[in-house]
Amino acid sequence: MKIRMNKDSINRLETELLGLTLKNPIIVASSSLTDNEKNIRRLLNFGVGAVITKTIYLGKRVLKSGKIMTNNNKGLFNTTMYSKKNITKWLDMLSRLYEEKHPVIPSIYADNPKDLAKLALALQKIGSPALELGISCPNDTNEDTASRIYEYTKKVDSIIEIPIIVKLRGSDNLQRDVLAAKSGGAKAVSISDTLPGVFIDRESSPSLVYECGYSGVPIKPIIQSYILRTRSKISGIQIIGVGGIQNSSDVLEYISIGCSAVQICSAIYINGIGVVPKILDDLYNDVQNMRLTLKDIKVQKARGK
Ligand SMILES: Cc1cc2nc3c(=O)[nH]c(=O)nc-3n(C[C@H](O)[C@H](O)[C@H](O)COP(=O)(O)O)c2cc1C
Repeated sequence: MKIRMNKDSINRLETELLGLTLKNPIIVASSSLTDNEKNIRRLLNFGVGAVITKTIYLGKRVLKSGKIMTNNNKGLFNTTMYSKKNITKWLDMLSRLYEEKHPVIPSIYADNPKDLAKLALALQKIGSPALELGISCPNDTNEDTASRIYEYTKKVDSIIEIPIIVKLRGSDNLQRDVLAAKSGGAKAVSISDTLPGVFIDRESSPSLVYECGYSGVPIKPIIQSYILRTRSKISGIQIIGVGGIQNSSDVLEYISIGCSAVQICSAIYINGIGVVPKILDDLYNDVQNMRLTLKDIKVQKARGK
């Protein structure tokens, strides 16, 4: 399915993010779905605005394969961490994609800021248009503090020229964390990574308790509340809304509370990859029917406050 466009119509979905022009605000979020070239190409062929890779990891830890579980197909629990693919493989794959000018943004993480900066530099060299720092994974043991977020962001920003997105986790400390990312040089924040959640498997004996990252439809109102509170207090940084998006209406909700773009993840696990062209097609039609552009939608809602 391709996005429908009248010959004489403007592209109402065109989106300015980080100084880049995306053809629409739909970005596929970092996850195991974006851990291989075949999937990334499939998603790009649907015409998404951009794809964010599975978090590329530079460090010494041996990563275990995680589990993905669902509660009646509503929410998704996962115990995964970072990509197990080595850096050379990622650099080769991304170089091929950049030769064809595809909008792919690497998500990156390392055990310390210096190594993260090294990885960022290697990705800038091969043509990455931007980077997302995946420094808040709830399945990792790291504790999010403002100084940790600042130090990672600042170190990367001090040696690269391309824009940085910092992916944060919704929490009561979110405004503090966004300010830390902004002072470190981030041009945008993605809100949110998965929230901490527990999955209890009572079918096994004894019951098994998994500490997970929780995502999908149930987290949407919570994430939107975090975003709304952040947006009303902090300006000068773009927000990318992530959490529970499953249709065009959800995308418009996030745009209307001040997000510049959105990311989609769990909806693809739960409904299959075909949900992506469906959301794109519906979004184009919805915005066309309203005779508005995405920018108008943001302004209208701000006035209605
Ligand atoms: C199976 C799975 C793996 C994920 N892996 C990553 C990752 O490697 N890096 C990252 O920043 N976020 C990761 N995420 C979080 C998603 O990118 C997204 O922030 C989160 O799932 C909320 O969006 P959703 O409700 O649309 O799924 C993962 C999520 C899932 C479900």
